[in-house]
Amino acid sequence: MKLDDVLHGNDAFVFMERYVDEAARTYSPFAGKSEVAPEYQPRSERPSFELVTVCAPGTQVSVFEADPVTRLRQYYVRPESVLFAVHPEIWSSSGIDHLDELHGLPRGNPIRVAPTASTRTVFVAGGEQEVPAHFLKLHYPRRISRFNRRLRRKNIHNSVEGSRDLEQVRRDRFAYLPDSLGFTYGGGDNPWGFLVREAVPRPYQGERFLIPYFALYAGDLKHAGHPPLLVQLIERLGVEPMSFVVDEIMVPVLDCWAAVVRERGILLECHAQNVLLEIDRDFRPRRVVHRDFDVWVDAEARRRAGLDVPFIGTCIEIDTPYPKEQHYSLTYDRFMGRELFDYLLEVLKRFYTADADRVRHQVVEAFHRRFPDSDCCFPAQTTFYFSNELLPGNDFRLIDTKEAPEWR
Ligand SMILES: Nc1ncnc2c1ncn2[C@@H]1O[C@H](COP(=O)(O)OP(=O)(O)OP(=O)(O)O)[C@@H](O)[C@H]1O
Ligand SMILES: [Mg+2]
Repeated sequence: MKLDDVLHGNDAFVFMERYVDEAARTYSPFAGKSEVAPEYQPRSERPSFELVTVCAPGTQVSVFEADPVTRLRQYYVRPESVLFAVHPEIWSSSGIDHLDELHGLPRGNPIRVAPTASTRTVFVAGGEQEVPAHFLKLHYPRRISRFNRRLRRKNIHNSVEGSRDLEQVRRDRFAYLPDSLGFTYGGGDNPWGFLVREAVPRPYQGERFLIPYFALYAGDLKHAGHPPLLVQLIERLGVEPMSFVVDEIMVPVLDCWAAVVRERGILLECHAQNVLLEIDRDFRPRRVVHRDFDVWVDAEARRRAGLDVPFIGTCIEIDTPYPKEQHYSLTYDRFMGRELFDYLLEVLKRFYTADADRVRHQVVEAFHRRFPDSDCCFPAQTTFYFSNELLPGNDFRLIDTKEAPEWR
C-alpha cells in the first residue's frame, strides 16, 4: 500500500484491515488460528458478503444505548421492530440459542459488509442516502485466535457502558470509536446479539484518516515490495525516525492508556488491532483512536475517583482469581509492550538500525512520568501472560512468564 492511498476513504481503510497484516499475528501460538469459514475471514478474496437481518418485535429485543447518532439509531430501531443482524455463518449453524425463533421472523434487507481484522467485527460502507458508514460487532461462536467470540448480554452491556464512560475523557491525543448501540434478542439468562460501532472518532474533529496500528508495521499481502506504512510516513514527513516513533506513535498510546486507567479504572487493551492512528491530510499523526471496550475494570480505582461501576462481571479482584498486578501486567507489558511496541521497534531496527535499548529507555521514562506510583499496580520484576492452553468457556489462566518487563 502506498501512503497516499490512505487518504482514499473506506476502500483504503478496509484494505488495511484485511490485507496489510502480513506477519502481524505472531504474538502468541493462537494468534493466527481461526475456526471461521475461509470466505468470511479478512484475508479472503471475497470483497464483501451479506449479513442476514430479521425484523424482530421490539418486545423481544433489549436495546443498549450510549448517545448513538440519530440516523444509525433510526436504521436499527424502527417504529414496530428492530433490525436484528446475524452473521451468515451463524445463521446457518446448528445449536445456537434462539435461532429457530429468529428463522421464523420476517426478513429485513440484508446488509452488505466487509470483514475487519478481528473477523467478527464487519464494516458497513453505508451511503449518504441510507445510513452513515459504521461497524457491526457480531455474535460469532467460533474460536478466533485464543477465544470463542460469543457476544452475550454482558459483553454488549459493558461495551456500551465503556463507550458512555469514555465520553468523559478529554485528552488531546485521545479519541475512540463508540459502541453506541447494542441489541440482544429474547429472554433467558444469557442472550446474544450485536453492537453498532460508529466509524467517526469522538470527540469529532473534521477530516481525518485512520490507519490500524498493525498496518503501520505489517507487510502488504497484495504488494510485497511496498515498505511498511510507518517507513513511508517517516520518509514523507522527513522526521528523525526514532524520536518520531517514540514521541508520536508509541508514547501517545501509553499516555492515553495510563490516563484512562488512572482516572477511570478502565484497562484498555491497546494491542495493535484495538488502536488506530489518526492522521490529517498532511499525514501528521493527530490522535490515537481506541476501539473495543469489553475489557477489565479496576473498580477500586473508580471508587477512589468517585465514579460508579456500571459494568457486569468484569472487575479485577472480584470477577477474576488473578491479582490486580497480573491484569495490569497483561494489558501493559503484553498487549501494549509485546503485541505493539515490540513490532514498531522491529521496524526501527530493520530500516534505521535503531538502538533498541535507547528506544526502550525513552518509553520507560515516559511510562514512569505518567505512572509515578506504578509499584502499586504492577509486579516489580516480572510479567504475566495467558498460559499456553485453551480452556473451556473462554476461561484462561495467567502465569508468571519469569520475563522482566522491557517497557517499564
Ligand atoms: N495485529 C493484531 N494484534 C491483535 N489482534 C489482531 C491483530 N490482527 C488481527 N487480530 C485479530 O483481532 C482480534 C483481537 O481480539 P479482540 O478481542 O481485541 O477483538 P474483538 O473483540 O474480537 O473485536 P473488536 O476489536 O473489533 O471489538 C483477534 O480476532 C485477532 O485474531
Ligand atoms: Mg479488538
